[in-house]
Amino acid sequence: MIIAVDGPAAAGKGTLARALAAHYGFAYLDTGSLYRGVAHALLKDGLAPGDADAALKAAENLDPGLIDPVAIRTAEVGDAASIVAVMPPVRAAILAFQRHFAAFPPDGAKGAVLDGRDIGTIVCPDADIKLYVTASPEVRAKRRFLELQAAGSPLSEAEVLADVMARDKRDTERATSPLKPAEDAHLLDTSNLSIETAFGSAVDIIETHRG
Ligand code: DC
Repeated sequence: MIIAVDGPAAAGKGTLARALAAHYGFAYLDTGSLYRGVAHALLKDGLAPGDADAALKAAENLDPGLIDPVAIRTAEVGDAASIVAVMPPVRAAILAFQRHFAAFPPDGAKGAVLDGRDIGTIVCPDADIKLYVTASPEVRAKRRFLELQAAGSPLSEAEVLADVMARDKRDTERATSPLKPAEDAHLLDTSNLSIETAFGSAVDIIETHRG
């Protein structure tokens, strides 16, 4: 069973996808971490995220097991990730790994939950369940601001909002695999929902689908 969870930055899809994977005993893949891993590899070597040749090389050489989970969480890496994610060859280089994970979840898991921007549309168009998780830009910026602040970031909430809106624009307007809900996706607006309520709604959708 494959559950696709897509949506814009800081909509709460990672928290939701992780909780669903734990609930059903499925494997979980945060596909944004792959793009962040590519971006981090470039920044670490002093290379510009817009350097297409270097980005492709980094994507081809990416070992998902070696991605530093803490270092990729900065605003700078997130921003650079959305720049490398615009490049079709980078996306193509990462696609096979994501599809393989979905088809053959590690550790014998009976299903997989993948979160990202194009899981329901491109990576797993045949996913059993597709959720499109969203929230207003202001709510998402607030959540991301609190996360970054807790991690010691000096960015103001207004700066984080500007960053969220810039990333939305880049993610939705790119030519290849733009962020958009799959036609058969269930929309979940978490602007006014707690994590628990959003999780409950997602489980309801999944259980209804399973019949
Ligand atoms: O979800 P995130 O903030 O970790 O994602 C970082 C960037 O990676 C995001 O701005 C766009 C890109 N991304 C993508 O293009 N496709 C995905 N499936 C996941 C992330």
